[in-house]
Parts: sequence; structure tokens; C-alpha cells
Amino acid sequence: MTQDLFDDGVVSESLPLGPGAVVLRRFAKADEAALLDAVRQVTEQAPLRHMVTPGGFTMSVAMTNCGDLGWVTDRTGYRYDPIDPESGHPWPRMPDVFVRLASDAASQAGFEGFVPDACLVNRYEPGTRLSLHQDRNERDYGQPIVSVSLGIPAVFLFGGATRSHKSQRVPLAHGDVVVWGGPARLHYHGVLPLKEAEHPLTGACRFNLTFRRAG
Ligand code: SIN
Ligand code: FE2
Repeated sequence: MTQDLFDDGVVSESLPLGPGAVVLRRFAKADEAALLDAVRQVTEQAPLRHMVTPGGFTMSVAMTNCGDLGWVTDRTGYRYDPIDPESGHPWPRMPDVFVRLASDAASQAGFEGFVPDACLVNRYEPGTRLSLHQDRNERDYGQPIVSVSLGIPAVFLFGGATRSHKSQRVPLAHGDVVVWGGPARLHYHGVLPLKEAEHPLTGACRFNLTFRRAG
């Protein structure tokens, strides 16, 4: 484990999950106000919604996007789309604080030059979960995934290259950032059902920002 001291005295620890994957504890904490403000602005323009999987299930996690491309699912499949299908307009532009944080976190994890063009905003409430999956709709698997947790805690499942590989259970708290890429880029991951909790800044919910270079 390594420690970095930010200007404001916040200590960030790096916790390796395996080759190519790391948790940067509290890395986003110093930007919490600006990040949550930006989440509010994005969700005003492109409201959170429960998307439907190709198999016809409605997702318990509410989602929206910002950036040039947005991840969407419907009965026809998963895809990145420059247009929000609910509004018919482009997704809101990615706030600068998002781009900077994602890029800094990627560098800290050893992935220099990461510039995201897609940010998926997930809202979890107690009881909601995300089943084990791979992120594989992106064009270039040379680019990492940067995933930022805000609000109430969750347990992140981080598995291996196959679905049957045993998953690590990684508790994630407000401000934690997970980065995975290189040999871990296609590893299965998910989120266990959230427990009831309250956070002073978000109430009974967790926001997750997933940054990707999709196009
Ligand atoms: C995701 O895999 O898209 C989100 C993971 C998380 O919420 O931590
Ligand atoms: Fe994912």
C-alpha cells in the first residue's frame, strides 16, 4: 500500500487488486462538492432513468450519461450513442472537473494520457445491485476504466477474466476511485445489493461515475 498526501491534508491510499487494477482510497474526496454539483447539473439535463436490458429486465440502478458518447441498453442490445434516446438531443457535455479527476486517477494508477469521452452516471439506492459483467462495448481495450464512488458505501465485486473466477469483495466508500486496465481491463465486476444508509451529501444513495474512452 502507498500513501499520498494532497495539499488539503487528505491522505489517499493505493490498494492494489491485482495486476492492472487498484483502488485509490478517497482520491475524489477533495472534489466532492464540485463533483456532486456537476452530477446535479448533468441529471437536470439528462434525467436518471431505469434502462431495459436486451433480455427485457428493467435495471434497478438508475442511469444517465454525459460526454460525447453515452452507454445505453434497450431491447436491441447495448451500445454507445451520441444521442440521449429519451430526449433526442446529445448528452450533456462532460464537466471539466470530471475529465480532470478521471485523467488524474488514471495517471496515478499508471495509465498516462487517459481522456474519457463517455461518463456513465449510476444512482444506487438501498437494495439495488449490479450483476457481474464485463465492460466490453468500448473500441480500444488499451484504455482503462475509472470508476468513482460518491455517497453511501457499497461492496464492489472484482473478479477475473471469466465469470466463474472467484470475486474479491471490495468495500467502497465516498471518494474512493477504482481504476482497472491493461491485464485487468476485461475483468468481471459488479456491485452487491446496497445496505440501508445515509450520507450527509447524498442522502440514501450512492452515485457512481464510470469514465471510459469508448469511441
Ligand atoms: C459499473 O460497473 O458500471 C459500475 C460499478 C460501480 O458502481 O462501482
Ligand atoms: Fe462495469
